[in-house]
This record gives sequence, C-alpha cells and structure tokens, in this order.
Amino acid sequence: MKTLIINGSPRKDGDTVGLIELLIKQLNGEYEIVDAYYSDISACRDCRYCWNYDGCSINDEMSEIYNYLVDCDNVVIASPIYFSQPTGKLLDVCSRFQTYFAAKKFRNQKASLKPKRGAVILVGGGDGNPQDAYRTACSLLHHINATEIYPPVGSFNTNKLPATKDEKAIKDIENVAIFLNS
Ligand SMILES: Cc1cc2nc3c(=O)[nH]c(=O)nc-3n(C[C@H](O)[C@H](O)[C@H](O)COP(=O)(O)O)c2cc1C
Repeated sequence: MKTLIINGSPRKDGDTVGLIELLIKQLNGEYEIVDAYYSDISACRDCRYCWNYDGCSINDEMSEIYNYLVDCDNVVIASPIYFSQPTGKLLDVCSRFQTYFAAKKFRNQKASLKPKRGAVILVGGGDGNPQDAYRTACSLLHHINATEIYPPVGSFNTNKLPATKDEKAIKDIENVAIFLNS
C-alpha cells in the first residue's frame, strides 16, 4: 500500500506535523510526504501546455509526485486552516493537478490514475469551522481520482490545546488509519 501525504504547514514541529506523525505510525505500507513550504514545486501558471500534451511544462519536484500518483492507493491532505482554507502553499502544489483536469476536459482522456482513498486532516486555532477548507480539499482530491473520501478530521482549538494533546483528534486519526489501511 502506498500513501502520499501533502503537508501544508510551515511549522516543522507544529500541529499538522504532530498529527501526520501519529498517522504514519499506524499506516501500513510505504508513504511519501510532500512539504508544500519546503519543496521545489511551483504553482500552476495556466500556460495551457496540458490542454494539448500529457504532463506539465514546469520541470520541478512535482515530477516525482506525478509518478507517485499513478499507482498510490491513498492521498492525505493535511494543512492548517488559514483564513478558512488550506494554506496558499498547499494550494500552489495542488494547483498542479490541473493537468489531470485538462486531460479529461480538453484531451478526452480517461483517468490515468489508480482510484484512491482520500483523507483530509485540518488544524485551526479556534476561529471558524473547517467546512470550507474541507470542501476545497475534497475538490482537489477528486482531481486525482479519489473515489472515497473520509469525513473531516483534525484539531480546531490549537490556540489553547496542541493537536497532539487533543483526545478527539487522536481518536479520529486512528480511524483515518483504519480507513486507509482497509
Ligand atoms: C495567516 C493565518 C491565518 C489563519 N487563519 C485561521 C482560520 O481561518 N481559522 C482558524 O481556526 N485558525 C487560523 N489560523 C491558525 C492556525 O490554523 C493554527 O495556528 C494552526 O494550529 C497552525 O498549524 P501548524 O502548527 O500545523 O502550522 C491562522 C493562522 C495564520 C498564521
């Protein structure tokens, strides 16, 4: 089993990373983590290369992610909530999924990616709810052929309680691992 985890947090010991670490301890198989803030992956520039050709005109670390996405079984989007959305850097990385949208829409190709399970882990300081960020993350996961997506999980009061001390978040991560391992 192969799992891709996209981490949208800049904080190397932050709440998102704490929950990712809990998850990977319970995951079967291999995993790959993309750190949106520290990878050499640019945002899509809407150059429209992919309207006519397979792949992407930008040559950077996204090539490895494209390869991994071909046959991985699971994709996890894990991010802090910034202004009710996943972070901008996470959206930059995921904007490169545009090539899959273009393949279907403009080149009439069938999905080239193995169907996947998806999960969305979010953390927030305590202002607002995770619904908008979850909806955005689900839309991104649909672009990469996630056919089953787990309900939103995470920790939403991190200004007062670190995610790794949040009992409900810890239990929810256990359930995400069971879902991804099944
Ligand atoms: C620019 C910015 C915007 C934020 N917007 C929200 C928000 O809309 N809702 C919320 O609950 N928390 C918000 N937060 C708080 C973070 O989501 C919170 O501190 C989170 O635990 C950080 O996760 P990390 O430690 O994994 O980076 C924001 C923080 C920053 C820096």
